[in-house]
Amino acid sequence: MKFDKPASENPIDRQNVVGQPRDRIDGPLKTTGSAHYAYEWHSEVDNVAYGYVVGSAIAKGRVNAINTDAASRAPGVLTVVTAENAGPLGKGEMNTATLLGGPEIEHYHQALALVVAETFEQARAAASLVEVHYQPQEGNFDLAKARPEVNTPPEDTPDSITGDFSTAFAAAEVKLDATYTTPDQSHFAMEPHASMAAWDGDKVTVWTSNQMIAWCRKELAATLKIEPEQVRIYSPYIGGGFGSKLFLRSDALLAALGARALQRPVKVMLQRPLIANNTTHRPATIQQIRIGTDKVGRIAAISHLSWSGNLPGGTPENAVQQTNLLYAGNHRQTGLRLAELDLPEGNAMRAPGEAAGLLALEIAIDEIAEKVGIDPVQFRILNDTQVDPTQPERFFSQRQLNICLREGAKRFGWQDRVARPGQVRDGRWLVGMGVAAAIRNNMVDKSGARVHLDPDGTLTVETDMTDIGTGSYTIIGQTAAEMLGIPLEKVMVKLGDSDFPVSAGSGGQWGANTSTAGVYAACVKLREQVAQRLGLKSDGLDFCDGEVLAGPRRFALTEAVKDGRLTAEDTMEYGNLDKEFQQSTFAGHFVEVGVDMFTAEVRIRRMLAVCAAGRILNPKTARSQVIGAMTMGAGAALMEELVVDPRLGYFVNHDLASYEVPVHADITEQEVIFLDETDPISSPMKAKGVGELGLCGVGAAIANAIYNATGVRVREYPITLDKLLAEMPEPALKG
Ligand code: MOS
Repeated sequence: MKFDKPASENPIDRQNVVGQPRDRIDGPLKTTGSAHYAYEWHSEVDNVAYGYVVGSAIAKGRVNAINTDAASRAPGVLTVVTAENAGPLGKGEMNTATLLGGPEIEHYHQALALVVAETFEQARAAASLVEVHYQPQEGNFDLAKARPEVNTPPEDTPDSITGDFSTAFAAAEVKLDATYTTPDQSHFAMEPHASMAAWDGDKVTVWTSNQMIAWCRKELAATLKIEPEQVRIYSPYIGGGFGSKLFLRSDALLAALGARALQRPVKVMLQRPLIANNTTHRPATIQQIRIGTDKVGRIAAISHLSWSGNLPGGTPENAVQQTNLLYAGNHRQTGLRLAELDLPEGNAMRAPGEAAGLLALEIAIDEIAEKVGIDPVQFRILNDTQVDPTQPERFFSQRQLNICLREGAKRFGWQDRVARPGQVRDGRWLVGMGVAAAIRNNMVDKSGARVHLDPDGTLTVETDMTDIGTGSYTIIGQTAAEMLGIPLEKVMVKLGDSDFPVSAGSGGQWGANTSTAGVYAACVKLREQVAQRLGLKSDGLDFCDGEVLAGPRRFALTEAVKDGRLTAEDTMEYGNLDKEFQQSTFAGHFVEVGVDMFTAEVRIRRMLAVCAAGRILNPKTARSQVIGAMTMGAGAALMEELVVDPRLGYFVNHDLASYEVPVHADITEQEVIFLDETDPISSPMKAKGVGELGLCGVGAAIANAIYNATGVRVREYPITLDKLLAEMPEPALKG
């Protein structure tokens, strides 16, 4: 089915099932431990051996020799796989560094060997006996040091220029020129990267934890130098991904190599301390923002440049894209600068680009609003735009940012905020409020599904879509139930299998809208088949309460399948609507913090997100997405930072003991409001995504609240107390 004109009224609009806050249909499986995660297919495969990964102890250089003799003789050891004995390997297109290193070493903890043994403990013990002789080389690991040398954009990413920034900025009545930094961050999903592989002749089956089944299949085939048809991927349950599982990673490759060497199934789970340096991360940025306004606060000129680093061949963190779209202004420029660094590969992490970009931009807006002397909510409303400011003939499909901000201000009690910082006390706490706006684009991509209607009235949906904890099972089930007019309980949803039709997968917050649109397309076909079996014309039919209504005539839906199962398959494809219109999602984030006047510890007291994201397919799962994202935003503002050792070139705090993330005690009250809207430009579902939107801007709202509480402006994330202490106001109470 092709979607190339705005959606008109369709069965989803009834919202009998879609749009209802239904519980997750996979909830009972997960809470009873019967949903199998990648490492847990215990009864499916016998005689499994266990792998343990040896990561490089240097960041850059060569392996002179690997001595595996002692490891091979250790109790229980079955084989040791290295680049030397693994056989010829290709490389996929999506990973920058090779997944099994040697002799070249491209980054710290790059996998150099897999020790496979009868038990995990035996493999782990033997791994410590692998002797690697290194020839280290100098590397570049310091973004700040590299920055002055990097003054031009990457060849394929030219600067975006509208009007004449320099002249307009020079003439502006109020100006800001400030630099902000964001650190490297790790996804650190609860479930580590894990895979089990088993070969049958020249075919391999991999049970893994991956957001994008079709990509994983293609990339693994390319790396093993076999055909995609020889690879079967299963990833039905995923314990969090956040972008770290978008791509093939070393666990899946090494499990396949170990299993091929042994002719026996092998499991590999990346050890937690390996994950930060072995997999991808969100790269650090240095961002310079300049804004010039007239005296009432209308933006005349805005510039945003962002520096990030990556391995040779890697991509920049696109921290400036939102600055092209979020505010009006005739004269603008944005640009990316990419330094070559020998740190592990930087890549997508939840809201790649905007998450880091808005951390900076939304402090800058707070700063310029203060300079102009107007309220930061008012400043944002004043500078709203209904067109893409870089292409003024191009409208947003839907943009209700101002309503998010107004509604949020009202619900949050923004009118009680004292604009002058450091004025509000509650015992030992200095109290402040902050706001930030958020934008995250809505991307569409083709997505397929297959549906079967059985004589007992059960509908089964099959698609290679994944559920990374987001609620895909449930919203897909709701979509199918709505389309066929049956209860959700009659729908069985099967996901995460490469034998199923290829979906858009879970990434870039496109999953909810696109995967359900694919199911919509398959269900439209199924409805036609039902009509045909019943001898009816397919238009004008209503599918409701298990019946097919054709004017005054009614048929039981099961009547159509009394002679056997009906199966339909289709893929939703998109025309040009996403080019004709700018499709984005929007939010206003409001935060109240308390900062201890003696120690400068920050406590978040209240958070509110007001989101405009098209039709909300399930307010319960969507709310959970936003709550989780707001929590991640608290981490970004206050805690999360992979600390770089600039001499040895690695992330030092590569475990969950020293990489801090928020816990329950860090979060008190969180509220989420969704505007009641639909976006007929996005798909027949009229939905968009919220999983990444919920994170965008949150950290800046926290930073702005800290400023309002204390008068201390920190421009380097995370805002730890050492950065506040030196400038904290004198406590009024001494001793
Ligand atoms: Mo997302 S960073 O595309 O999983």
